[in-house]
Amino acid sequence: MTLKIAILLSGRGSNMQAIHRAIKEGRLDAKITAILSDQPEAAGLAYAQAEGILTHVVERQNGEDREAYDRRLISKIDEGSAQLVVLAGFMRLLSPAFIRHFPNRIVNIHPSLLPAFPGLHAQRQALEAGVRFSGCTVHFVDEGCDTGPIIDQRVVGVSREDTEASLSARILEQEHQLYPECLQKIAEGKI
Ligand code: GRF
Repeated sequence: MTLKIAILLSGRGSNMQAIHRAIKEGRLDAKITAILSDQPEAAGLAYAQAEGILTHVVERQNGEDREAYDRRLISKIDEGSAQLVVLAGFMRLLSPAFIRHFPNRIVNIHPSLLPAFPGLHAQRQALEAGVRFSGCTVHFVDEGCDTGPIIDQRVVGVSREDTEASLSARILEQEHQLYPECLQKIAEGKI
């Protein structure tokens, strides 16, 4: 059955584009009910609008606490009856109330082999640690930071010549394949 997904992003949106491409090419049986961004200038929004996908900008208002903000996000997501919340470069920590509203129904992609290098600048952390392999992870989201159950991973070699930019680009190529594949497995009820 076609999986209804809402995608949350804050920036470039290349993973969202990879997901959308997979849908258009018939590799992913899903429908994007809406794309939500906390950043009005997120580049991903322009792509989504050009493709005719419903977008919502949900900006944090002055003095608004996290729970109140998340309630506004939840209501926008629920308007489209999304079955799965797909985080794709969404740069805000979600409140426990948000996570409990979508039990086992939030997924994220992270640019390292979790549980190594959670949090920000995962590629920089990998280079600083001197690891020879890194990669990306798709996982369910729980109340911790990048700690939920792992769905799948892709490994990327790290060379001594790598910079943060070169490693990030190589990991991103794998992200763009891995995320749609994991979503398809969820759509098929295999996960
Ligand atoms: C990706 O590296 C993803 O792993 C991380 O944030 C970045 C988002 O990139 N969570 P994009 O906006 O999908 O291009």
